[in-house]
Amino acid sequence: MHIYKANILFTKVKDKFDIIPNGYIAVENGKVVGVYERLPESLCGAPITDFGDKLLIPAMNDMHVHAPQYRNQGIAMDLELLPWLDNYTFPEESKYADTAYAKRMYKLFVRDLWRNGTMRTVAFATIHRESTRLLMQLFQKAGMGAFVGKVDMDRNCPPTLTQTVADAVSDNEQLIAEFDKEDALVRPIITPRFIPSCTPEMLRACGELAKKHNLPVQSHLSENRGEIAWVKDLEPESSSYGDAYFRYGLFGQTPTIMAHCVWTEGEELELMRRQRVMVAHCPTSNLNLSSGMASVRTFLQAGVPVGLGSDISGGHQLSIFKMMVYAIEVSKMQYCRDKSKAFLTLSEAFWIATKSAGSFFGKVGSFENDYEFDALVIDDSELNHDNYSLQHRLERFIYIGDDRHIVHRFCRGKEITLSDF
Ligand code: GUN
Ligand code: FE
Repeated sequence: MHIYKANILFTKVKDKFDIIPNGYIAVENGKVVGVYERLPESLCGAPITDFGDKLLIPAMNDMHVHAPQYRNQGIAMDLELLPWLDNYTFPEESKYADTAYAKRMYKLFVRDLWRNGTMRTVAFATIHRESTRLLMQLFQKAGMGAFVGKVDMDRNCPPTLTQTVADAVSDNEQLIAEFDKEDALVRPIITPRFIPSCTPEMLRACGELAKKHNLPVQSHLSENRGEIAWVKDLEPESSSYGDAYFRYGLFGQTPTIMAHCVWTEGEELELMRRQRVMVAHCPTSNLNLSSGMASVRTFLQAGVPVGLGSDISGGHQLSIFKMMVYAIEVSKMQYCRDKSKAFLTLSEAFWIATKSAGSFFGKVGSFENDYEFDALVIDDSELNHDNYSLQHRLERFIYIGDDRHIVHRFCRGKEITLSDF
Protein backbone atom coordinates (compact mmCIF):
# COMPACT_ATOMS: atom_id res chain seq x y z
CA MET A 1 0.00 0.00 0.00
CA HIS A 2 1.25 3.47 -0.84
CA ILE A 3 -0.41 6.85 -0.41
CA TYR A 4 0.06 9.81 -2.78
CA LYS A 5 -0.96 13.30 -1.75
CA ALA A 6 -1.57 16.12 -4.24
CA ASN A 7 -4.29 18.17 -5.91
CA ILE A 8 -6.22 15.40 -7.63
CA LEU A 9 -8.23 15.89 -10.82
CA PHE A 10 -9.94 13.25 -12.97
CA THR A 11 -13.18 12.65 -14.86
CA LYS A 12 -15.54 9.89 -13.72
CA VAL A 13 -18.09 11.29 -16.14
CA LYS A 14 -17.59 13.51 -19.16
CA ASP A 15 -19.55 16.49 -17.91
CA LYS A 16 -17.42 17.51 -14.96
CA PHE A 17 -14.09 17.12 -13.24
CA ASP A 18 -13.79 15.38 -9.89
CA ILE A 19 -11.46 17.67 -8.00
CA ILE A 20 -9.94 16.92 -4.61
CA PRO A 21 -7.67 19.71 -3.33
CA ASN A 22 -4.84 18.33 -1.20
CA GLY A 23 -6.36 14.88 -1.53
CA TYR A 24 -5.00 11.36 -1.04
CA ILE A 25 -4.92 8.33 -3.32
CA ALA A 26 -4.21 4.89 -1.88
CA VAL A 27 -2.59 2.46 -4.33
CA GLU A 28 -2.08 -1.27 -3.78
CA ASN A 29 -0.78 -3.85 -6.30
CA GLY A 30 -0.84 -1.17 -9.01
CA LYS A 31 -4.49 -0.32 -8.42
CA VAL A 32 -6.38 2.53 -6.83
CA VAL A 33 -8.02 1.41 -3.60
CA GLY A 34 -9.39 4.76 -2.51
CA VAL A 35 -9.39 8.53 -3.07
CA TYR A 36 -9.89 10.68 0.02
CA GLU A 37 -10.26 14.28 1.11
CA ARG A 38 -8.86 13.30 4.50
CA LEU A 39 -6.73 10.25 5.11
CA PRO A 40 -8.72 7.54 6.96
CA GLU A 41 -7.30 6.55 10.29
CA SER A 42 -6.74 2.97 9.12
CA LEU A 43 -4.25 4.24 6.48
CA CYS A 44 -2.32 6.62 8.70
CA GLY A 45 0.63 4.23 9.07
CA ALA A 46 1.07 3.65 5.32
CA PRO A 47 4.05 5.19 3.49
CA ILE A 48 3.11 8.48 1.86
CA THR A 49 4.57 10.58 -0.96
CA ASP A 50 3.52 14.21 -0.70
CA PHE A 51 3.55 16.06 -4.04
CA GLY A 52 2.66 19.32 -2.30
CA ASP A 53 0.79 21.81 -4.49
CA LYS A 54 1.29 19.83 -7.71
CA LEU A 55 -1.53 18.35 -9.82
CA LEU A 56 -2.10 14.59 -10.00
CA ILE A 57 -4.09 13.42 -13.03
CA PRO A 58 -4.61 10.19 -15.00
CA ALA A 59 -1.91 9.52 -17.61
CA MET A 60 -2.52 9.90 -21.33
CA ASN A 61 -3.55 7.18 -23.82
CA ASP A 62 -2.61 7.50 -27.50
CA MET A 63 -5.16 5.41 -29.39
CA HIS A 64 -3.58 5.66 -32.84
CA VAL A 65 0.04 6.24 -33.78
CA HIS A 66 2.46 4.91 -36.40
CA ALA A 67 5.76 4.22 -34.65
CA PRO A 68 7.71 3.82 -37.95
CA GLN A 69 6.59 7.25 -39.14
CA TYR A 70 8.49 8.93 -36.31
CA ARG A 71 11.20 10.25 -38.63
CA ASN A 72 8.53 11.93 -40.76
CA GLN A 73 6.93 13.78 -37.85
CA GLY A 74 6.49 17.42 -38.81
CA ILE A 75 7.52 17.09 -42.46
CA ALA A 76 5.86 16.33 -45.79
CA MET A 77 2.54 18.09 -45.29
CA ASP A 78 1.89 18.90 -48.94
CA LEU A 79 -0.20 15.95 -50.11
CA GLU A 80 -3.50 14.28 -49.36
CA LEU A 81 -3.66 10.78 -47.90
CA LEU A 82 -3.19 8.46 -50.89
CA PRO A 83 -0.26 10.21 -52.63
CA TRP A 84 1.16 11.01 -49.17
CA LEU A 85 1.30 7.28 -48.42
CA ASP A 86 3.00 6.49 -51.73
CA ASN A 87 5.50 9.33 -51.68
CA TYR A 88 6.49 9.69 -48.05
CA THR A 89 5.10 6.99 -45.80
CA PHE A 90 5.73 3.73 -47.64
CA PRO A 91 9.37 4.61 -48.45
CA GLU A 92 10.02 5.39 -44.76
CA GLU A 93 8.26 2.25 -43.49
CA SER A 94 10.29 0.15 -45.95
CA LYS A 95 13.42 1.04 -43.98
CA TYR A 96 12.17 -1.07 -41.05
CA ALA A 97 13.38 -4.22 -42.77
CA ASP A 98 16.63 -3.06 -41.16
CA THR A 99 16.42 -3.91 -37.45
CA ALA A 100 19.32 -1.63 -36.54
CA TYR A 101 17.44 1.34 -37.99
CA ALA A 102 14.24 0.16 -36.28
CA LYS A 103 15.95 -0.12 -32.90
CA ARG A 104 17.42 3.37 -33.13
CA MET A 105 14.18 5.04 -34.22
CA TYR A 106 11.80 3.04 -31.99
CA LYS A 107 13.89 3.89 -28.95
CA LEU A 108 13.56 7.59 -29.69
CA PHE A 109 9.85 7.11 -30.30
CA VAL A 110 9.13 5.32 -27.00
CA ARG A 111 11.14 7.87 -25.07
CA ASP A 112 9.13 10.65 -26.69
CA LEU A 113 5.81 9.04 -25.72
CA TRP A 114 7.11 8.85 -22.16
CA ARG A 115 8.25 12.47 -22.26
CA ASN A 116 4.75 13.54 -23.30
CA GLY A 117 3.03 11.61 -20.51
CA THR A 118 1.55 8.87 -22.69
CA MET A 119 1.61 5.64 -20.66
CA ARG A 120 -0.63 3.53 -22.95
CA THR A 121 -0.40 3.37 -26.71
CA VAL A 122 -2.18 1.63 -29.56
CA ALA A 123 0.52 1.52 -32.24
CA PHE A 124 1.02 0.43 -35.81
CA ALA A 125 4.47 -0.98 -36.51
CA THR A 126 5.31 -2.23 -40.05
CA ILE A 127 4.99 -5.55 -41.88
CA HIS A 128 8.38 -6.59 -40.45
CA ARG A 129 8.21 -9.18 -37.68
CA GLU A 130 11.65 -8.56 -36.18
CA SER A 131 11.26 -4.78 -36.01
CA THR A 132 7.80 -5.21 -34.52
CA ARG A 133 9.25 -7.51 -31.86
CA LEU A 134 11.88 -4.86 -31.06
CA LEU A 135 9.18 -2.24 -30.57
CA MET A 136 7.27 -4.55 -28.25
CA GLN A 137 10.42 -5.30 -26.26
CA LEU A 138 11.13 -1.58 -25.92
CA PHE A 139 7.66 -0.94 -24.48
CA GLN A 140 8.20 -3.87 -22.09
CA LYS A 141 11.57 -2.52 -21.03
CA ALA A 142 10.05 0.92 -20.46
CA GLY A 143 7.21 -0.55 -18.38
CA MET A 144 4.63 1.25 -20.49
CA GLY A 145 1.42 -0.32 -21.80
CA ALA A 146 0.85 -0.89 -25.51
CA PHE A 147 -1.07 -2.78 -28.10
CA VAL A 148 1.40 -3.16 -30.97
CA GLY A 149 0.31 -4.25 -34.43
CA LYS A 150 2.48 -5.98 -36.97
CA VAL A 151 0.97 -4.39 -40.07
CA ASP A 152 -0.54 -6.64 -42.73
CA MET A 153 -0.72 -5.44 -46.35
CA ASP A 154 -0.46 -7.14 -49.74
CA ARG A 155 -1.72 -4.87 -52.49
CA ASN A 156 -1.38 -1.31 -53.79
CA CYS A 157 1.91 -0.84 -52.00
CA PRO A 158 5.57 -1.24 -52.96
CA PRO A 159 7.04 -4.76 -53.12
CA THR A 160 9.15 -3.90 -50.04
CA LEU A 161 5.95 -3.68 -47.99
CA THR A 162 4.15 -6.68 -49.49
CA GLN A 163 3.94 -10.14 -47.95
CA THR A 164 2.11 -13.31 -48.85
CA VAL A 165 -0.90 -14.07 -46.68
CA ALA A 166 0.87 -17.22 -45.43
CA ASP A 167 3.93 -15.23 -44.31
CA ALA A 168 1.78 -12.59 -42.65
CA VAL A 169 -0.14 -15.26 -40.73
CA SER A 170 3.04 -17.04 -39.69
CA ASP A 171 4.69 -13.79 -38.52
CA ASN A 172 1.59 -12.88 -36.53
CA GLU A 173 1.44 -16.34 -34.98
CA GLN A 174 5.06 -16.07 -33.82
CA LEU A 175 4.50 -12.69 -32.18
CA ILE A 176 1.22 -13.84 -30.63
CA ALA A 177 2.90 -16.93 -29.15
CA GLU A 178 5.59 -14.71 -27.63
CA PHE A 179 3.52 -11.77 -26.38
CA ASP A 180 -0.13 -12.77 -25.92
CA LYS A 181 -0.03 -13.33 -22.16
CA GLU A 182 -2.87 -12.63 -19.78
CA ASP A 183 -2.41 -9.32 -17.99
CA ALA A 184 0.66 -8.42 -20.06
CA LEU A 185 1.21 -4.68 -20.43
CA VAL A 186 2.40 -5.12 -24.02
CA ARG A 187 0.19 -7.17 -26.27
CA PRO A 188 -0.39 -7.85 -29.97
CA ILE A 189 -3.28 -6.35 -31.95
CA ILE A 190 -4.38 -7.54 -35.38
CA THR A 191 -3.59 -4.77 -37.87
CA PRO A 192 -4.73 -4.89 -41.49
CA ARG A 193 -3.51 -1.47 -42.70
CA PHE A 194 -6.77 -0.55 -44.46
CA ILE A 195 -8.97 -2.07 -47.14
CA PRO A 196 -7.06 -0.64 -50.15
CA SER A 197 -3.79 -2.27 -48.93
CA CYS A 198 -5.25 -5.72 -48.20
CA THR A 199 -6.65 -8.33 -50.55
CA PRO A 200 -9.86 -10.09 -49.47
CA GLU A 201 -7.67 -13.12 -48.60
CA MET A 202 -5.51 -11.00 -46.29
CA LEU A 203 -8.55 -9.41 -44.65
CA ARG A 204 -10.13 -12.83 -44.13
CA ALA A 205 -6.90 -14.15 -42.59
CA CYS A 206 -6.75 -11.16 -40.23
CA GLY A 207 -10.35 -11.74 -39.12
CA GLU A 208 -9.55 -15.41 -38.50
CA LEU A 209 -6.45 -14.56 -36.45
CA ALA A 210 -8.43 -12.12 -34.29
CA LYS A 211 -11.12 -14.71 -33.68
CA LYS A 212 -8.76 -17.63 -33.08
CA HIS A 213 -6.72 -15.77 -30.45
CA ASN A 214 -9.48 -13.45 -29.25
CA LEU A 215 -7.28 -10.45 -30.05
CA PRO A 216 -8.30 -6.85 -30.67
CA VAL A 217 -8.22 -5.25 -34.12
CA GLN A 218 -7.13 -1.82 -35.36
CA SER A 219 -7.33 -0.19 -38.76
CA HIS A 220 -8.30 3.00 -40.61
CA LEU A 221 -11.84 3.94 -41.56
CA SER A 222 -13.48 6.62 -43.73
CA GLU A 223 -10.59 9.05 -43.46
CA ASN A 224 -10.49 10.64 -46.92
CA ARG A 225 -13.09 10.94 -49.68
CA GLY A 226 -10.82 9.53 -52.39
CA GLU A 227 -10.07 6.56 -50.15
CA ILE A 228 -13.78 5.95 -49.49
CA ALA A 229 -14.59 6.00 -53.23
CA TRP A 230 -11.76 3.52 -53.81
CA VAL A 231 -13.09 1.15 -51.13
CA LYS A 232 -16.52 1.28 -52.77
CA ASP A 233 -14.91 0.05 -55.99
CA LEU A 234 -12.90 -2.65 -54.21
CA GLU A 235 -15.78 -3.93 -52.07
CA PRO A 236 -18.92 -3.40 -54.16
CA GLU A 237 -20.94 -5.88 -52.12
CA SER A 238 -20.51 -3.96 -48.88
CA SER A 239 -23.06 -1.33 -47.87
CA SER A 240 -20.38 0.85 -46.24
CA TYR A 241 -16.63 0.92 -45.61
CA GLY A 242 -17.31 -0.26 -42.05
CA ASP A 243 -19.51 -3.05 -43.34
CA ALA A 244 -16.60 -4.29 -45.46
CA TYR A 245 -14.49 -4.75 -42.30
CA PHE A 246 -17.50 -6.32 -40.58
CA ARG A 247 -17.83 -8.95 -43.29
CA TYR A 248 -14.25 -10.05 -42.67
CA GLY A 249 -14.73 -10.29 -38.88
CA LEU A 250 -12.82 -7.06 -38.30
CA PHE A 251 -15.46 -4.74 -36.90
CA GLY A 252 -16.31 -5.40 -33.27
CA GLN A 253 -16.33 -9.21 -33.34
CA THR A 254 -13.37 -8.63 -31.02
CA PRO A 255 -12.58 -5.21 -29.44
CA THR A 256 -11.89 -2.90 -32.37
CA ILE A 257 -10.48 0.57 -32.82
CA MET A 258 -10.79 2.50 -36.08
CA ALA A 259 -8.74 5.63 -36.75
CA HIS A 260 -10.34 8.80 -38.16
CA CYS A 261 -13.98 8.05 -39.14
CA VAL A 262 -14.07 11.58 -40.55
CA TRP A 263 -16.90 10.82 -42.97
CA THR A 264 -18.71 8.15 -40.95
CA GLU A 265 -22.47 8.62 -40.79
CA GLY A 266 -25.77 6.78 -41.17
CA GLU A 267 -25.49 3.02 -41.35
CA GLU A 268 -21.75 2.96 -40.67
CA LEU A 269 -22.23 5.03 -37.50
CA GLU A 270 -25.03 2.71 -36.39
CA LEU A 271 -22.85 -0.34 -37.04
CA MET A 272 -20.07 1.19 -34.90
CA ARG A 273 -22.52 1.79 -32.06
CA ARG A 274 -23.91 -1.73 -32.28
CA GLN A 275 -20.47 -3.36 -32.51
CA ARG A 276 -18.90 -1.08 -29.85
CA VAL A 277 -16.15 -0.04 -32.28
CA MET A 278 -14.04 2.77 -30.83
CA VAL A 279 -13.08 5.81 -32.89
CA ALA A 280 -9.50 7.03 -32.56
CA HIS A 281 -10.07 10.72 -33.28
CA CYS A 282 -6.91 12.26 -34.77
CA PRO A 283 -7.61 15.96 -35.31
CA THR A 284 -4.09 17.10 -36.28
CA SER A 285 -3.78 14.37 -38.87
CA ASN A 286 -7.17 15.21 -40.33
CA LEU A 287 -6.10 18.87 -40.64
CA ASN A 288 -2.63 18.17 -42.06
CA LEU A 289 -3.82 15.70 -44.69
CA SER A 290 -6.86 17.84 -45.61
CA SER A 291 -9.01 14.84 -44.73
CA GLY A 292 -11.83 16.77 -43.07
CA MET A 293 -13.16 17.26 -39.56
CA ALA A 294 -14.65 14.32 -37.69
CA SER A 295 -17.59 15.24 -35.45
CA VAL A 296 -16.83 13.93 -31.97
CA ARG A 297 -20.18 15.31 -30.80
CA THR A 298 -21.92 13.05 -33.32
CA PHE A 299 -20.03 10.02 -31.92
CA LEU A 300 -20.96 10.99 -28.34
CA GLN A 301 -24.60 11.57 -29.28
CA ALA A 302 -24.70 8.22 -31.09
CA GLY A 303 -23.09 6.37 -28.17
CA VAL A 304 -19.98 5.38 -30.14
CA PRO A 305 -16.85 5.11 -27.93
CA VAL A 306 -14.07 7.63 -28.68
CA GLY A 307 -10.42 8.16 -27.79
CA LEU A 308 -7.73 10.51 -29.11
CA GLY A 309 -4.77 9.62 -31.33
CA SER A 310 -1.69 11.54 -32.46
CA ASP A 311 -1.45 9.61 -35.75
CA ILE A 312 2.22 10.51 -36.19
CA SER A 313 3.15 11.37 -38.95
CA GLY A 314 -0.18 12.39 -40.47
CA GLY A 315 -0.36 14.27 -37.19
CA HIS A 316 2.68 16.31 -36.13
CA GLN A 317 2.06 16.45 -32.35
CA LEU A 318 2.70 13.52 -30.03
CA SER A 319 1.16 15.18 -26.96
CA ILE A 320 -2.33 13.95 -26.16
CA PHE A 321 -2.85 17.16 -24.18
CA LYS A 322 -2.44 19.05 -27.42
CA MET A 323 -4.81 16.55 -29.07
CA MET A 324 -7.46 17.65 -26.55
CA VAL A 325 -6.94 21.28 -27.59
CA TYR A 326 -7.19 20.45 -31.31
CA ALA A 327 -10.28 18.30 -30.72
CA ILE A 328 -11.97 21.20 -28.91
CA GLU A 329 -10.93 23.70 -31.60
CA VAL A 330 -12.14 21.48 -34.45
CA SER A 331 -15.44 20.94 -32.62
CA LYS A 332 -15.85 24.71 -32.41
CA MET A 333 -15.41 25.06 -36.19
CA GLN A 334 -18.11 22.42 -36.63
CA TYR A 335 -20.39 24.16 -34.16
CA CYS A 336 -20.07 27.32 -36.30
CA ARG A 337 -21.62 25.42 -39.17
CA ASP A 338 -24.18 23.41 -37.17
CA LYS A 339 -25.36 24.77 -33.84
CA SER A 340 -26.97 21.43 -32.97
CA LYS A 341 -23.45 20.05 -32.48
CA ALA A 342 -22.31 21.70 -29.25
CA PHE A 343 -18.54 22.12 -29.10
CA LEU A 344 -16.54 19.93 -26.73
CA THR A 345 -15.88 21.16 -23.22
CA LEU A 346 -12.56 20.68 -21.46
CA SER A 347 -13.95 17.97 -19.18
CA GLU A 348 -15.35 16.12 -22.19
CA ALA A 349 -12.02 16.24 -24.04
CA PHE A 350 -10.20 15.12 -20.88
CA TRP A 351 -12.66 12.26 -20.27
CA ILE A 352 -12.32 11.14 -23.91
CA ALA A 353 -8.52 11.08 -23.64
CA THR A 354 -8.45 9.31 -20.26
CA LYS A 355 -11.40 7.22 -19.11
CA SER A 356 -13.09 6.67 -22.47
CA ALA A 357 -9.86 5.78 -24.31
CA GLY A 358 -8.49 3.88 -21.32
CA SER A 359 -11.43 1.45 -21.39
CA PHE A 360 -9.71 -0.21 -24.37
CA PHE A 361 -6.95 -1.38 -21.98
CA GLY A 362 -9.24 -2.46 -19.14
CA LYS A 363 -9.78 -0.34 -16.03
CA VAL A 364 -7.50 2.50 -17.08
CA GLY A 365 -7.93 6.28 -17.24
CA SER A 366 -9.65 7.16 -13.97
CA PHE A 367 -8.90 7.17 -10.25
CA GLU A 368 -12.01 5.23 -9.27
CA ASN A 369 -11.50 2.17 -7.10
CA ASP A 370 -9.90 -0.79 -8.86
CA TYR A 371 -8.54 1.33 -11.73
CA GLU A 372 -4.91 0.76 -12.58
CA PHE A 373 -2.84 3.63 -11.24
CA ASP A 374 -1.66 5.33 -14.45
CA ALA A 375 -0.88 8.88 -13.41
CA LEU A 376 1.07 12.06 -14.08
CA VAL A 377 2.28 14.64 -11.62
CA ILE A 378 2.22 18.16 -13.05
CA ASP A 379 4.36 20.95 -11.63
CA ASP A 380 2.66 24.01 -13.06
CA SER A 381 4.16 26.49 -10.59
CA GLU A 382 5.74 28.33 -13.53
CA LEU A 383 2.28 28.76 -15.12
CA ASN A 384 0.32 29.56 -11.97
CA HIS A 385 1.07 33.22 -11.32
CA ASP A 386 -2.22 34.31 -9.84
CA ASN A 387 -4.18 31.82 -7.76
CA TYR A 388 -6.04 30.13 -10.54
CA SER A 389 -8.65 27.53 -9.57
CA LEU A 390 -7.45 23.93 -9.86
CA GLN A 391 -9.53 23.42 -13.00
CA HIS A 392 -8.05 26.55 -14.58
CA ARG A 393 -4.56 25.39 -13.61
CA LEU A 394 -5.18 22.11 -15.42
CA GLU A 395 -6.69 23.92 -18.42
CA ARG A 396 -3.71 26.26 -18.64
CA PHE A 397 -1.28 23.34 -18.47
CA ILE A 398 -3.23 21.52 -21.21
CA TYR A 399 -3.25 24.59 -23.46
CA ILE A 400 0.16 26.14 -22.87
CA GLY A 401 2.13 23.62 -20.81
CA ASP A 402 4.43 20.90 -22.11
CA ASP A 403 6.57 17.97 -21.03
CA ARG A 404 8.78 20.18 -18.85
CA HIS A 405 5.86 20.42 -16.44
CA ILE A 406 5.39 16.63 -16.17
CA VAL A 407 7.57 15.66 -13.22
CA HIS A 408 6.46 12.08 -12.42
CA ARG A 409 4.85 9.35 -14.53
CA PHE A 410 3.21 6.16 -13.30
CA CYS A 411 1.98 3.14 -15.23
CA ARG A 412 0.12 0.37 -13.39
CA GLY A 413 1.32 1.74 -10.09
CA LYS A 414 5.02 1.82 -10.97
CA GLU A 415 6.92 5.04 -11.45
CA ILE A 416 8.38 5.07 -14.96
CA THR A 417 11.67 6.94 -15.17
CA LEU A 418 13.40 5.28 -18.16
CA SER A 419 16.57 5.54 -16.10
CA ASP A 420 18.09 2.39 -17.62
CA PHE A 421 16.30 2.57 -20.98
N1 GUN B 1 -4.45 4.93 -44.02
C1 GUN B 1 -3.68 3.87 -44.32
N2 GUN B 1 -2.43 4.01 -43.86
C2 GUN B 1 -2.40 5.19 -43.24
C3 GUN B 1 -1.38 5.90 -42.53
O1 GUN B 1 -0.23 5.46 -42.40
N3 GUN B 1 -1.73 7.10 -42.02
C4 GUN B 1 -2.98 7.61 -42.13
N4 GUN B 1 -3.26 8.81 -41.61
N5 GUN B 1 -3.95 6.98 -42.80
C5 GUN B 1 -3.67 5.78 -43.33
FE1 FE C 1 -3.02 6.25 -39.17
